[in-house]
Amino acid sequence: MKQSRKEFLQFLGMGSLTLSTTSLWAMSKKPAGIVGLSPGMASDNVVLVPGLSYEKLISWGDSISEDGKLRFGFNNDYTALLENSSTPSQAYLWVNHEYPDPVFLETKKPNKTKADIEKEMKNVGGSFLELRRASGKWSVVTDSSKNFRLDGQSKIPFSNGESIQGSSVAIGTFANCAGGKTPWGSVLTCEENYQDYYGDVDDQGQIIEKGYLGWSTYQQRPPQHYGWVVEIFLEKKQAVKHVGLGRFSHECATVTRAKDGRVVVYSGDDKAGECLYKFVSDSTDSLHKGTLYVANLEQGKWIEISYKKSKAFQKMFATEQDMFCYTRKVAHILGGTPLDRPEDIEIIPGTANVLVALTNNTGKKNYFGSLLKIIESNQDAASETFQSETFLTGGETTGFACPDNLAFDPRGNLWFTTDISGNKMNKDPYTPFGNNGLFVVLAQGPQKGQAIQMASAPFDAEFTGPTFSEDGKTLFLSVQHPGEETKTVSKLTSHWPDGGSSIPKPSVIVIQGPALEAISAKK
Ligand code: FEO
Ligand code: CA
Ligand code: CA
Repeated sequence: MKQSRKEFLQFLGMGSLTLSTTSLWAMSKKPAGIVGLSPGMASDNVVLVPGLSYEKLISWGDSISEDGKLRFGFNNDYTALLENSSTPSQAYLWVNHEYPDPVFLETKKPNKTKADIEKEMKNVGGSFLELRRASGKWSVVTDSSKNFRLDGQSKIPFSNGESIQGSSVAIGTFANCAGGKTPWGSVLTCEENYQDYYGDVDDQGQIIEKGYLGWSTYQQRPPQHYGWVVEIFLEKKQAVKHVGLGRFSHECATVTRAKDGRVVVYSGDDKAGECLYKFVSDSTDSLHKGTLYVANLEQGKWIEISYKKSKAFQKMFATEQDMFCYTRKVAHILGGTPLDRPEDIEIIPGTANVLVALTNNTGKKNYFGSLLKIIESNQDAASETFQSETFLTGGETTGFACPDNLAFDPRGNLWFTTDISGNKMNKDPYTPFGNNGLFVVLAQGPQKGQAIQMASAPFDAEFTGPTFSEDGKTLFLSVQHPGEETKTVSKLTSHWPDGGSSIPKPSVIVIQGPALEAISAKK
């Protein structure tokens, strides 16, 4: 899917072949007049604006080890790229695998066997991949000894040797949605809809969710072992679950620094009516000790969640770890503001302003969502006060619905993906929006502030995990759950990426092209 020079000039609104390379370069410095995709695009493909093309990097089931035993998992989500300027031909990519689809894994049965559940376990967690870059093209080093997987059976200890439900080690990580990168080179992967696997219990031990995947029929594990931020030390192939960052449906863990250098992590609890949190580390280079806060938007306050300072919580919970297991309950008691599904978070480059995707809240008739901007007092991420305002609202006027993952390119343009649920896509009130998409909001120029659609996803799919290479010339993007509405493999609703009558496969793609060079590439 190469883009021709003619198509690119048409994309820039030039429609002429007479431009010299110099004038093309001049044009590319000022990307004026980008024509986005028409609204309502609904095709079983990754459709891109002229000037962009994609290549598949890796798909579900692909081998990532020499012996073929390690396989790329299902439903790729967050991606984190690790580059080193001294070795430009080599990089590493962490990819989350959020959840298994029993239809495609062929584990959808009235009574799942142990083997069925083990198969699902193998397909969640994440993959760490060595990448090679040659002449600007990326590929996976499929036999690299650096490659590894975390999955539903990995042994992962809790931070600081802490114990949860009598055990200092959890078995498995799953529901790995978005994440974050730390300044010291580790990656954070977030356990979001953990309740789908071993269910969930309240602080009285009452079952509040059974877990539709039914993993407890294989072996019951404490639900309190899941719903954490997991830090992965990539070189050591080790991970730890951070109790201090709280337990809830962590969408993401976005890392920045306070003015004094301490590390700060923002995280949203992606459930309607749940809250926004931040963790201020005591340290500049670890997440082991610190303070968790929940946001009260009405008062513009970050409210500290403290066991030591609260007699009431000491009465309610036997230990600090117990309290963190029920962070949601504690956050509401303290006055955390219920939000419309806080999903991904990004820091606006060069500022201490934070963008939070509020996807939607259909129960409150907020169908299209918005982006919330948090302005930290004194431009300090460790501040205990802030102001907030709506940055952009979804709807027919702005042309997008249900913003989810966010990424800034090296020039400070905001890119975001949308997440209209598969069963609601192309149905009222989402008909005008077509399939899910990828949008850019330019930071400068006459189109500044407008959401321009740059890509449309295959049927039932959602783009997730947008990540730019440091030079801004490549955008890594997950295509998650193509054909998710398929009820039986004999009647597939998507055939992406291989086409024909093939089964759909979640895949990571690499987007490049002159339009990206014009919009996002580092100057
Ligand atoms: Fe896994 Fe909230 O998206
Ligand atoms: Ca998400
Ligand atoms: Ca989502």
